[in-house]
Amino acid sequence: MSFPWAFVACAFPQRIPSRSTLKLEEAFLQFVPERTLEADLTEGMTAVDLGAAPGGWTYQFVKKGIHVIAIDNGPMQKELMSTGLVQHEKADGFKFEPPYTVDWLVCDMVERPMKVAELMAKWLANGWTRRAIFNLKLPMKKRYQEVSLCLQTIEAMLKKAGVGYHYQVKHLYHDREEVTVCIMVR
Ligand SMILES: C[S@@+](CC[C@H](N)C(=O)[O-])C[C@H]1O[C@@H](n2cnc3c(N)ncnc32)[C@H](O)[C@@H]1O
Repeated sequence: MSFPWAFVACAFPQRIPSRSTLKLEEAFLQFVPERTLEADLTEGMTAVDLGAAPGGWTYQFVKKGIHVIAIDNGPMQKELMSTGLVQHEKADGFKFEPPYTVDWLVCDMVERPMKVAELMAKWLANGWTRRAIFNLKLPMKKRYQEVSLCLQTIEAMLKKAGVGYHYQVKHLYHDREEVTVCIMVR
């Protein structure tokens, strides 16, 4: 006799795709208040993960029953793909446009912070998503100035688009030379 839960247990990946998964797990704990968890992170929602391979961040959504479009030229973990919750697109994260509005955008692409900031602002300004979590990778010396410039750019782009939002920025325990930003449209 087989039980539905037995099937789910087999289908869900037994091992994490990468240690990066800890960063998004920590970001959710830091940035999404417990009282809004039900509204903000719930089964049936949709997400886009830019720079997704091998799937550590995607894993955090799949764990919650959230569908993910994973963008990366690299391979995704096989077990994660076999959950049926992940659509892998081998595309450039800077050119990809979502086929529908998604609940979440996350981005862990290794790129210049300003390029990532502008991309995040474009998604939010276009209404392609209402929530974004992303890393600004900071290998340079003037990190504070760089982060300030990125935030000013996002502010200018969203103001121009008439989008109200609130943001949080933190150097998380699992972050190295980077900070994690969470933006939610009001
Ligand atoms: C730090 S890794 C992501 C790790 C992933 N978040 C995880 O938890 O497993 C960065 C990824 O970004 C991808 N990447 C870099 N530039 C990209 C681009 N322009 N478009 C799509 N993916 C890109 C790389 O192929 C790489 O897999």
